[in-house]
Order: sequence, then structure tokens, then C-alpha cells
Amino acid sequence: MKFFIDTANLAQIKEANELGILDGVTTNPSLMAKEGIKGQDAVMQHYKTICEMVDGDISAEVISTDFDGIIEEGKKLAAIHKNIVVKVPMIKDGVKAIKWFTENGIRTNCTLVFSAGQAILAAKAGATYVSPFIGRVDDTGWDGMDLIYQLRQIFDIQGFKTEILAASIRNPNHITKCAEAGADVCTCPLDSILGLLKHPLTDIGLAKFLEDAKKTA
Ligand code: G3P
Repeated sequence: MKFFIDTANLAQIKEANELGILDGVTTNPSLMAKEGIKGQDAVMQHYKTICEMVDGDISAEVISTDFDGIIEEGKKLAAIHKNIVVKVPMIKDGVKAIKWFTENGIRTNCTLVFSAGQAILAAKAGATYVSPFIGRVDDTGWDGMDLIYQLRQIFDIQGFKTEILAASIRNPNHITKCAEAGADVCTCPLDSILGLLKHPLTDIGLAKFLEDAKKTA
């Protein structure tokens, strides 16, 4: 399973990248706004900076919702760097745009996916990635992980090449469960990635080893 970080924060991207386990970055308009990035030039420059920091796929989201607007915006985003993946919302014009991008050699990430039916449409249109939002499904009282299991089964049976990119990850357990369910990629906040490191027995064991090591010094 590939690890992406889900943020536009450069310090967090750097920290995850230095761990040596990072395969890419996803962003969205909310994450860009959180970093105070304002204006189209600043947004484009921010994506360029991220591309220069991480050697992996970088998802950059369009904000247009009509076919022509999505295409125009997506072409500009794709021109920033070869690693840019154009993130397109799961709407009717989005599906049409994904098909157009696929036929024109531009890779896509279909975002805001909450059902198997939506994921099938994105895969049929040729999306490179489809992003089911696990945490937001959980928030509604349903089990987001069921969707990952369902998509894995459908994509394998149907031979879809689209990669399942589990998004809206809220904790380390989500990451482990996504790996178990067969997600191709998990895009995570930094604290969820770092949370994977933690186990109290590791801390207790290390303290004991260090204490005993003093006896051998
Ligand atoms: O990248 C989109 C997705 O990961 C959003 O997560 O926590 O806002 O539901 P969240």
C-alpha cells in the first residue's frame, strides 16, 4: 500500500518525507485555505513547491464544476509538473472530464466518493485514482471501511485498473484497516502516520533496554 500525506502544510510534508515512507501528497481547497494560500498564482506556486519536495504523485484539485471549466483548470494544473494528478469531484461533468483527461494523457483522482456506484463510474471513465472518504462515511454512522472492502472486490472482479485511494483518514487504526482491506493507497494526516509508531510496550521495552545497557557500559 502506498502512503500519501493529506495536507498542504509544507513542514508536515517535509517531516513525512524525511521518514522515507512517503509516496505522494493529496490536497484539497479546504487544506489549501487552512495554510492561508490565497489567489490562483499562490495556489499554483504552492503545488510547484510540493512537487519539488516530494518525488511522487501530487493531487491538485479543480474548483470548477462545469466540463469546460474543469478541463481548462485541469490542463493548467497538469502543466505545473509531470507528477500532478488532477483531482476532480464526483459529479456528472466531473465524470465526463475524467474521461477527457484519460483520453488526453492527464492522470486524475476522482474525489468525494461515498458509494460503490460512484467509484464504478470513476473507474469506467478511466480515473487513475478513486478517493472514498472513510472518515466522513463513519461520521454518518455507516462503516467507511466496508466501502474499501466492497471496492476492492468489485475492482478485482471487474479488472478495473483504477487505484483505490482511501481518504478522510482520521486515526492510525484506519490506516491498518485500509491495508487489511486492500486499499492501493492511503492518504493520511501526519498525526495518523506518526500514530502508527506508538505502542506502550515499545516505550517500556526501550526504557528497560537503555537502563540495562548502562550496566554493560
Ligand atoms: O483529501 C480529502 C479528505 O481526506 C478529507 O478528509 O478529514 O476532511 O474528511 P476529512
